This record gives sequence, structure tokens and C-alpha cells, in this order.
Amino acid sequence: MRILGIETSCDDTGVAVYDSDRGLLAHRLYSQTALHSQYGGVVPELASRDHIRKTLPLIRTVLTEAAIASSLPRGPRLDPIGEAGVGPGGLDGIAYTAGPGLAGALLVGAAIGSGLARAWGIPAVAVHHMEGHLLSPMLEPDPPTFPFLALLVSGGHTLLADVAGLGRYTILGESVDDAVGEAFDKTAKLLGLGYPGGPAIARAARAGDPGKYPFPRPMTETKKTHGAHPGLNFSFSGLKTAVATLVQNNKSLDPPTVADIAASFQQAAIDVLALKCQWALDQTGAKQLVVAGGVSANEKLRARLWELTERLGARVYFPRPEFSTDNGAMIAYAGWRRLRAGQSATSGFGVQARWEIATLPPAE
Ligand code: KG4
Ligand code: ZN
Repeated sequence: MRILGIETSCDDTGVAVYDSDRGLLAHRLYSQTALHSQYGGVVPELASRDHIRKTLPLIRTVLTEAAIASSLPRGPRLDPIGEAGVGPGGLDGIAYTAGPGLAGALLVGAAIGSGLARAWGIPAVAVHHMEGHLLSPMLEPDPPTFPFLALLVSGGHTLLADVAGLGRYTILGESVDDAVGEAFDKTAKLLGLGYPGGPAIARAARAGDPGKYPFPRPMTETKKTHGAHPGLNFSFSGLKTAVATLVQNNKSLDPPTVADIAASFQQAAIDVLALKCQWALDQTGAKQLVVAGGVSANEKLRARLWELTERLGARVYFPRPEFSTDNGAMIAYAGWRRLRAGQSATSGFGVQARWEIATLPPAE
């Protein structure tokens, strides 16, 4: 089966072709970072308009590259698309991100994906963005197998889930306020590091002392809850507020100070994530931990979770850093898993700006 994947939920236009026999044939990402950086964050209307400009040209490029890749020996050939840029080119389905995300941005990918599928007479499948992230490590060699524990960390979500199979998700904990990626973005803004904040904090932190400022590790201390276990939920807004207070009281935000604050913030966030993973691994007895979503690109977090799982006799799985953040490959892959299980969008199309992953139908 060969699936075209389209991701337009936020500020990245991602397109890919996944082949169930041969793996990923082609993938491209167009990032809108330069467009939004002057505003310090994503401007939804500008995001939608840019997806409209970029999605079809990107699809044409990816289909051409996939045709070239599949004309190499082994397997059937994918017809190159002609000058007019139309033709299903050996595709068996089209997967598009239907939510959660920015409604206008999602509508672009949904309209293009379902329109092309209708015109080409192939099925369309509406993919849940976080399910895409969740399955992204399966694009790597030596992938995880169900069941496993998953930590999903992105700009909009922080959650720990017990994953029994495709669509069999039990949420063990999630953020009660800001997502961890959001905390990275807001902290970067406070420090004048710009957008997107995660990579900027990680870069600045390299020159800093992670022990310099003792920022809080919210919802990790049993003492403060009078012995009651704080559980597997997360809270990151207090951490961001602690940084804000420090910044307000600090007259000079010179580069060494910024580096120390960035490193101390990053350390606090990683401490919380690692501790909750440890508790969840203990609680479930899981031996595999899948970590995905934009924040999983963070090298310090990766190193910490490698070390933790090794110590506990478990294994950790990440997508390649390029597929930690939003991309079309994970959508093509998740779409293939859903189509293979007999699920596809029926008629018309819809998007869901808010969409709980636990409400997805089980498929395997
Ligand atoms: O998954 P993603 O690309 O988009 C959403 O679904 O939200 O995640 C984006 C988030 C942003 O908050 C960004 O700052 C964060 O991931 N991020 C990072 C790193 N790279 C991206 N956070 C920490 N360290 C990084 N290296
Ligand atoms: Zn994402």
C-alpha cells in the first residue's frame, strides 16, 4: 500500500509518501518559522494562507520524488505525475491531519487531501495529529511493538499514555495547564530568545549552568501534598512564572545570565518529565517507552531518558529528530495503519481543532 500524507495542523506544511513494503519513499517539510518569527508566535490566519500556497506544490514535488525513488529496482513503479501535475501515481490512499490544531490550517490539508482522493477515486483517511506523533518511532529501524508506554510532548500536549494497541490508549497523566513545549516557548520569549522557543532554549542552555537557579519541579514533591502521591499529571505554568519573576527582578539579562536561566529551566522541565516516566514505568511494568512530539527533539531529554530506561532495564524509542517535530511522514504512516485496519473517511471532510486521543476508535 502506498499512502500520501499531508500535515497542516500548525506552522509546518509536511508532505510524504509511505510505502508499506519499501518504507518512506519521499518526504518534504516547508517551515513557516520565518513568517511567524516577526510576531513572536504563530498567527493562525497567516498560517492558513501559507498552507494554501505551499501544499499543492509540495505534493507535486514529493510525488515526483517518490516516483523516482520507486523506479529503483524492487517493487512496482510509481507513475510520475505529468506536467499537469495530476494523477494518483500508484497511490492507494491519502491521509491528512484532521486535528487537533488550528482550524483554518487543518481545513487546508483536509480540503486538499479529500479533494484529491475524491478526484483520483482512492480513499481518504482523517488522521489524529497526536496519533501521528505516537506512531512516528515506528518509521525507524528496530521499531517498538505494542504494548508500550508513551510520553507525548509537543507545543499543545503533554501526556503519558498506556498504549495497548492502535487506538487503545489509556491516559495516565496530562498537563493541567501549559504543555511543556508551550513552557519552552514562553520562557524563550521572556529571555528574548525568539520563536520557536524549544530549540532556542536548548541552544542557549549549552553555555549555562543547569544548577544555577533552583526552579520548582511542579507536582513532583510528595511532602507538599502531605504524603499523598502527586500522580502522573503535569503542571508547567508555575515553572514559567518562576522564570518570569526572576527575569523581572534581574536588571541585566546578559548572555551568561540568559544561558544560566535557560539551562536551569531546561533542567527543571526534564527532571519533571523523567520522574513521571519513571513512576509510570514502575506503575505499569512497561518495558518499552516511546517518546515523541516536538520536545522529544531535545538532546538533553533524550540522554536523560536513555539513562533512566537503561537503569530500569527498559528501552526507549524516539523518532529521528527531524520527525520529532511536525512532519508529513508520521501522518502517511498513521494513515496507512488506519486504512489497513479498514478505516477511512466516508464522504465530505471535517476537522476537529480539539480532539482527545483517548476517543479514537480501537483498530488493532
Ligand atoms: O510537535 P510539534 O512540532 O508541534 C505541535 O504539535 O505542537 O512541537 C512543537 C514544540 C514547540 O513548543 C517547540 O518549542 C518544541 O516542540 N521543541 C523543542 C525542541 N524542538 C522543538 N523543545 C525543546 N527542545 C527542543 N530541541
Ligand atoms: Zn505536533
